[in-house]
Amino acid sequence: MAEIAFDAGTRSWLIRTAATGYALRLTEDDAPSHVYWGPALTPDQLADVLPRTKERWDAFNDPNEGLDELAADGGTRYWTPALQLRFADGTRALEWRYLDHDIDDGMLRVRFRDRHYPLRITLGYRVPAGTDVIERWTELTHDGPDGPIEVIRADSATWVVPVRPDYRISHVTGRWAAESQLLREPVPHGETTFGSRRGITGHHANPWVMLDDGEATERHGEVYSAALAWSGSWRITTTRSSTGRLTVTGGFGQDGVVPRLNPGDTLTTPVFAGLYTDGGFGAASRAWHAYALRHVLPHPDELRPVLYNSWEATGFDVTEAGQRELAKKAAALGVELFVMDDGWFGARDGDHAGLGDWHVNRDKFPGGLEPLVGEVHGLGMKFGLWVEPEMVNPDSELYRAHPDWVLHYPQRTRSELRRQLVLNFARPDVAGWAFDSLDALVGEYGIDFLKWDMNRPFSEAGWPDDGDQDRLWVEHTRAVYGIMDRLRAAHPGLRIEACSGGGGRIDFGVMARTDQVWTSDNTDSLDRLVIQHGYGQVYPARAMSAWVTDDPNFVTHRSTPLRFRFHVAMAGVLGIGGDIVEWPEEDLAYAREQIALYKEIRPVVQHGRLHRLLPPDTDGVSALQYVAADGERAVVFVFRQAAHFHTHERPVRLDGLAPSARYRDDDTGQVWHGAALLAHGLFPGLPDGDFASVVIRLTKL
Ligand code: GLA
Repeated sequence: MAEIAFDAGTRSWLIRTAATGYALRLTEDDAPSHVYWGPALTPDQLADVLPRTKERWDAFNDPNEGLDELAADGGTRYWTPALQLRFADGTRALEWRYLDHDIDDGMLRVRFRDRHYPLRITLGYRVPAGTDVIERWTELTHDGPDGPIEVIRADSATWVVPVRPDYRISHVTGRWAAESQLLREPVPHGETTFGSRRGITGHHANPWVMLDDGEATERHGEVYSAALAWSGSWRITTTRSSTGRLTVTGGFGQDGVVPRLNPGDTLTTPVFAGLYTDGGFGAASRAWHAYALRHVLPHPDELRPVLYNSWEATGFDVTEAGQRELAKKAAALGVELFVMDDGWFGARDGDHAGLGDWHVNRDKFPGGLEPLVGEVHGLGMKFGLWVEPEMVNPDSELYRAHPDWVLHYPQRTRSELRRQLVLNFARPDVAGWAFDSLDALVGEYGIDFLKWDMNRPFSEAGWPDDGDQDRLWVEHTRAVYGIMDRLRAAHPGLRIEACSGGGGRIDFGVMARTDQVWTSDNTDSLDRLVIQHGYGQVYPARAMSAWVTDDPNFVTHRSTPLRFRFHVAMAGVLGIGGDIVEWPEEDLAYAREQIALYKEIRPVVQHGRLHRLLPPDTDGVSALQYVAADGERAVVFVFRQAAHFHTHERPVRLDGLAPSARYRDDDTGQVWHGAALLAHGLFPGLPDGDFASVVIRLTKL
């Protein structure tokens, strides 16, 4: 448990996690000000840091600029505002007044009010047990009778990074079928905003950043990171000043969208968690993974089953006979969860119709879903179903009955993307309908798993009947969370996969109510190495869905050997997504063998610690290693993406092993000293050529 202490003399709070420290204080005029974030300090040691607040230099320069704990708009504060409000009379400046605080069970809440207006502000801090992660959020309460307060920006937290000679940022960018492309680049001076204005987390950026002084490597150096738990529009802004200060402020929302706080309302932001680590990017990732496993994912101790998904095999061409055939083949391979993807409901023969009509297509399934579900269960597999609850095709019974249920403005085009419109889940009647439809489906057929998809961003996001339309951006996402939470509560055995055109909804917000995420619609194993590398910077393998699909690849048309496709997918939650009815017997036999191997190594992959040995851009060869939580086993994956002329196989240096222990290669029986594996490495014995791969299993003796 973290230790949190208040020092009345200096009016400061010190939060001590297992290995780190964090401190804030009140300034003389009662505003919350940042003091410290970094390696653990005792209260005595912190006393050396506290008096550093300096006098203003002149009318234009204030050395304390950028030290606000939650940078608020107003007065002589010119930093990027994390909190920007407009009161009913038009006043836009905030003046903080400290009220009180409480410290309870690893949580700190510091309460303020505005000096004049009816607004209360709570800054929340929580350190989940056994982690160095500091979860932060903000609560705003309108506690007066006056008119509404406009919320221009309400970030969850501002993170102040200690002054360093230089700064570098790591983050991911991407697009559909190429999510999670890791970038490491200098932090520009001025303000840089990452975000999504799409109503979803997005493929183009993901709500986390890592900051270092430019010197950190995979294995060494201090890294400051922050991750936002939110699945709607978001923004994270880095601000770097000429004085050397760097801050990161982040939260939900987007520019121009200004919801209101009415008397009596409380707005609670999502968590924007921060983490200081030493030990390079590898240690930062492992700390985030441990946090996700212990404190975010709902069933972290479970092993995710090997899944089969029918999408790439059938597209919309779904038939009962076809699904039964796939299911039989899948069961024979050792698959544990059979998921029927799009095309099973309404008039869904293509992407032009049917979304919103969540009843079984009787032409395709004359006897309903029972026979198929029964068959799948009879084969010893769980049954999963694809749904896209937030969407409607204009060509659907639902839209014909409720054209006003979608996001729209009366005088604007209803822009279709993938021939569909977005339902307004901020409306309680729409969210209620969605819950009832899903609840009925899951209950009636005994569905074990839902793949919850979301295949287009918002547009014309209006709600004509509502006086405060902009609130729908946040409330839609909250409704998605609420429906997932209610479904889980009503059906404790139900598991959910989050998907948004592949990896468009991957974040700690959705992970808190799902069991895995669909990483990308791109299942090409070469591209996947890069995508998985970016994904794994923050998110754990335990939630990373990865399928083996047909050759050539559905999206990229590239050919890769089945072995390579398996090994890449086995570094996450293995699934099969090809047309296995068409696979030759030798491929099926190989698949059976690899699935059995995966089941053997998956406790290490899904619950172990990730060590990235060689990133996917290193001279044609990449490698990663998982070490079991108890250190007893390790699994090493080595991939040669491209063979280069006259490059000899080099030893791959392992990580995370005990130097004094010895390890046995489970396949060859060879025994190695941990120290030698760490210092020199292991010759992986890759087969020749491009797309070569090996999986090495080591057991500690
Ligand atoms: C999205 C998903 C795919 C598949 C299709 C079905 O693109 O990411 O995996 O489910 O929808 O329409």
